[in-house]
Amino acid sequence: MSRCRVCSHPIREFFDFERQPLSSAFPRTGELDEEYFFRLAVGMCESCTLVQLIDAVPPERAHHQGYPYHSAASSVMCKHFEQTARRFLETELTGADPFVVEIGANDGVMLRTCGDAGVRHLAVEPSGATGVRAHRAFFDAHAATRIRDADGTADVVYAANTICGVTDLQPVFEGLDVLLAPDGVFVFEDPYLGEIIERTSFDQIYDEHVFFFTVRAVGALADRFGFELVDIERLPVHGGQIRYTLARPGRREPSPAVADALRTEQAHGLAELVTLERFAARVQRIRDDLVALLHELRADGARIVGYGATAKSSTMANYCGIGPELIPFVCDTTPAKQGRLTPGSHIPVRPVEAFADPYPDFALLFAWNHAEEIMAKERAFREAGGRWILYVPQVHIV
Ligand code: TYD
Ligand code: ZN
Repeated sequence: MSRCRVCSHPIREFFDFERQPLSSAFPRTGELDEEYFFRLAVGMCESCTLVQLIDAVPPERAHHQGYPYHSAASSVMCKHFEQTARRFLETELTGADPFVVEIGANDGVMLRTCGDAGVRHLAVEPSGATGVRAHRAFFDAHAATRIRDADGTADVVYAANTICGVTDLQPVFEGLDVLLAPDGVFVFEDPYLGEIIERTSFDQIYDEHVFFFTVRAVGALADRFGFELVDIERLPVHGGQIRYTLARPGRREPSPAVADALRTEQAHGLAELVTLERFAARVQRIRDDLVALLHELRADGARIVGYGATAKSSTMANYCGIGPELIPFVCDTTPAKQGRLTPGSHIPVRPVEAFADPYPDFALLFAWNHAEEIMAKERAFREAGGRWILYVPQVHIV
């Protein structure tokens, strides 16, 4: 039986996507024999209600060389990280000689903005690929001790789209205990289970997302690791996230937003297995609808291409059985993905220039979390008669 990674109680499984590849391992044509697959299934802890993957990819299999996140590919994400930095500069980083640390660091936009304002900053990231001053390590007590000895305690430790992928959170919290100043805060943001359920955005479930947080589960997790959840904020980015602020116990008055969110979660039944079972039924419906639509359009002779070789699209394509016979290619701005194949589904990835050469009849928007930005940028596609296919919150054409 699987046990909760945080509190060790049994996990109740509610959905099985079966055999799935690593979402960021884009093989070359000659590398298909080496692809690694694992069982992608999700469940909820009977005790702390934390939703999590049943099986995680073993660390030696994880795709560490990956694709360092490029916020630069999205102007919306760049602005988001700049605004995050400005908020910290106005609230948490106002003392004498403040210090801000980011775990994971994305491509350094948040830290660079702090740096430009004269604030000491450091990325903690094993690959070092951040574009800012970096300590190359996984964040744990050892790394935190070295950083504290060199730079002193941190006023803010921040992590975006990182904590939900850390299988073992204990070392992270041990590190926080070492590094955070007495009144320091740990701020992290990740996809929100409430939003995934509301939008049936099941493609948020893939190897690198191990945890699907709720305010309730994060509150319990914070207690367990010796911290306190003192604030939450909903974020519109990446299909709906929550930013959690944790402090040392008793140091801050929890904001009313925490209690409000707990009430809303209870009203929506987020801690009840039956809610997740209903979600599972909607997932199958979306798959059936999407597959039927794509086959119908192809039978009518329509040309359909994919837009955005996201990690999310790995679950979507593999679970739905969408391959190159339905979608001849997917275009993406990431040079390291171009010329390769999508994981498991083996759809060729081409530069975005291929999109207009010539425009297809339909574009399946795998990068739906950037819908507004992409549709604005690709206005000419619709003007030329093209249509977007979306599958969140249900299958529809715009
Ligand atoms: P991302 O938002 O990180 O989603 P995931 O976490 O599921 O991978 O990925 C967005 C992908 O879409 C990335 O590969 C870059 C690509 N992209 C474009 O091709 N064009 C664009 O305009 C944007 C914003 C993204
Ligand atoms: Zn638990």
